[in-house]
Amino acid sequence: MSADTTLPAAGDSPVAPGPMLEVNGLVKHFGSGGMFSPSRAPVRAVDGVSFAVLRGETLALVGESGSGKSTTARLVLRLIDPTAGRICFEGADITSVPQRALRPLRQRMQMVFQDPYASLDPRLTVRQTLEEPLIVHGIGDAATRRAQVDELLGLVGLSMHHASRYTHEFSGGQRQRVGIARALMLHPDLVVCDEPVSALDVSIQAQVVNLLKDLQAQLRLTYLFIAHDLAVVKHMADRVAVMYLGQLVEIAPKESLFANPRHPYTRMLLDAIPRPHPAQQQRRQLGVDELAGAVHAPAGCRFHPRCPFAIERCRVEEPALELTEAGHLAACHRKDELAPWESATSSVQASGVTALRLALYAQRKAANASEG
Ligand SMILES: Nc1ncnc2c1ncn2[C@@H]1O[C@H](COP(=O)(O)OP(=O)(O)OP(=O)(O)O)[C@@H](O)[C@H]1O
Ligand code: SF4
Ligand SMILES: [Mg+2]
Repeated sequence: MSADTTLPAAGDSPVAPGPMLEVNGLVKHFGSGGMFSPSRAPVRAVDGVSFAVLRGETLALVGESGSGKSTTARLVLRLIDPTAGRICFEGADITSVPQRALRPLRQRMQMVFQDPYASLDPRLTVRQTLEEPLIVHGIGDAATRRAQVDELLGLVGLSMHHASRYTHEFSGGQRQRVGIARALMLHPDLVVCDEPVSALDVSIQAQVVNLLKDLQAQLRLTYLFIAHDLAVVKHMADRVAVMYLGQLVEIAPKESLFANPRHPYTRMLLDAIPRPHPAQQQRRQLGVDELAGAVHAPAGCRFHPRCPFAIERCRVEEPALELTEAGHLAACHRKDELAPWESATSSVQASGVTALRLALYAQRKAANASEG
């Protein structure tokens, strides 16, 4: 793909063709395995990742702890520099754009963080927190900034009365609403959400997930959405990319991935979802280890030490990410031999408090629509 290097500015036509974001062969190695690593080998946090995020869609990035999701997010936003690979935003290659020239891009790509406690300055009021990006980017006068803050507060379900309060006075859910409002202050097109609800009480996760979904529709946002909870991913995503030890092992439209996962690791993640019936829970159980990061990624298929389907070929030959059906790619030598997946669709929807609340919300919304 050829890409020009003219940075798209805020307010450019939103109908530019092609994906909003495209990464090719993205690699990030961190210096060494650390002082406790015997080999001091580099941590291959991201190791050759390619994907595209289409305009207006939500691409979910899932995988165990340490698989490289947050590193991918930080690379995409150019918060850290890649070791290799290319990042294109609306067709413009932004991989090597110097930090000082990234300002127009910063307006168009924003991030919602996992921990609203850590990401917001406790010394600032909500109004100061939300005005800050506008001031930094030299946008508007005091009156227009004030109006924009009030407008955003309304959009995220807070009121202007909250503006004079400090973020530590809020509940976790309210604080994440402030974090979302802050990310939206500069009218971004792409929002990278890194585990936006996993630090929240389960009872309010669904509210925040639904807020993000409503905002996406209202403001025509594009999301790269990182999450652990596959019930949330099922509700939010259009497509899902599964990451293992720094690489993508499967990427597919949501329906296709949940109905017919082709990679044993994806199946393992789906099996780890809590099920309503204990019998189902015990059906297949694979250990879900905390990953130490890809310091010593195994040769061949990286998943082979944990894979119940591994054969000799898997130990020596790395599988490529290949098309299995329309829009569905998987990196497994045996993807076409595995027995059909027992659909977990209904279990995913019915399991977990979050999933139940999401279902209730959908019912209420449908009822309101029919009354209206
Ligand atoms: N600045 C850094 N220096 C060294 N290693 C790092 C650095 N940042 C991340 N890593 C390592 O890179 C690997 C991937 O980390 P990353 O935070 O991207 O994983 P993650 O998928 O987001 O995990 P989690 O689900 O726990 O947030 C891990 O092994 C991590 O320890
Ligand atoms: S390539 Fe082999 S080891 Fe890797 S996931 Fe497929 S069957 Fe398992
Ligand atoms: Mg992370």
